[in-house]
Amino acid sequence: MDFRGRWVMVTGASSGLGLEMARQLGRDHGANVVAVARRLERLEALKEELEPAGVQVVPVTADLTRQEEVDSAFERALDASGGLYGAVLNAGVTHFGDWRELDWDGFQRMLATNVTSVVRLSSLVLPHLIERRENGGVMLVSSMAGLAPVPYQAAYSGTKAFLVHYGCSLWHELRGEQVSLTTFAPGGIQTEMTSGDRFDALRGWLMPVDRCARSGLDGYRKRKYLHVPGVVYKVLSALNGVAPEPFASSRVAAQYRASLEALRRAKAESGS
Ligand SMILES: NC(=O)c1ccc[n+]([C@@H]2O[C@H](COP(=O)([O-])OP(=O)(O)OC[C@H]3O[C@@H](n4cnc5c(N)ncnc54)[C@H](OP(=O)(O)O)[C@@H]3O)[C@@H](O)[C@H]2O)c1
Repeated sequence: MDFRGRWVMVTGASSGLGLEMARQLGRDHGANVVAVARRLERLEALKEELEPAGVQVVPVTADLTRQEEVDSAFERALDASGGLYGAVLNAGVTHFGDWRELDWDGFQRMLATNVTSVVRLSSLVLPHLIERRENGGVMLVSSMAGLAPVPYQAAYSGTKAFLVHYGCSLWHELRGEQVSLTTFAPGGIQTEMTSGDRFDALRGWLMPVDRCARSGLDGYRKRKYLHVPGVVYKVLSALNGVAPEPFASSRVAAQYRASLEALRRAKAESGS
């Protein structure tokens, strides 16, 4: 793909991976960005940061758990840009901890953000890109948690597996059309999502967000089918295919359980 002077919509552009991909799309790839999220002040800060470099940024606030706001975000993106060349559907939320802690409302919000909004937006964006005949593309941000079951992020892992199957299936359906669809599956990243103390014992595994974003955009630009960033995660995902079924997940379960247990003990000792 060639992003220069073209418009790309990035959801979840207020923080973490989405913010960094939006920044790099503008700064390093010459794209103009429609930046979607709920926190307007952060989107305005991105606009202020990129505009001196000649990059146009249109902040669009939307709560992606609400279908009418998803639809209106797409409409506002079209109005402001005059037409999109791409979309990075990145917004997502997780729950890290015992499965019983995720209440029904929390699960509904996760499903709406991670799954429903992505299906809705891709259903709107893909026909638009095909009609424009510019050979644009969409990238769905899934996770390594979508490639193997991840205990202690059980619901999240399910939503991300949906994206892998959905995205990779569409890749086949879209062959021969003037559009591409890439599914990006990173492992742990240093972002707001992993900033809580439950991740304290796991920080060594987290990839710097700028490196992860660069790799993701490289996969997007090359129109990859399924892109996993970093050597360690590439090896882990390859091992997944050859190891006995529960092997990778039981390693993750042991590590996550130990991390949650260490935090519980530390809190019990300090009385907090
Ligand atoms: N961090 C990791 O270890 C990791 C690993 C693999 C994959 N991923 C995936 O990478 C993507 C980005 O995650 P991140 O780590 O960058 O997390 P993050 O720093 O928490 O950012 C999440 C982004 O999603 C947006 N968002 C969340 N709920 C939303 C809603 N209801 N409506 C609109 N926007 C919403 C947030 O914006 P507002 O709050 O401003 O609305 C924010 O910009 C997610 O899909 C995640 O699953 C993350």
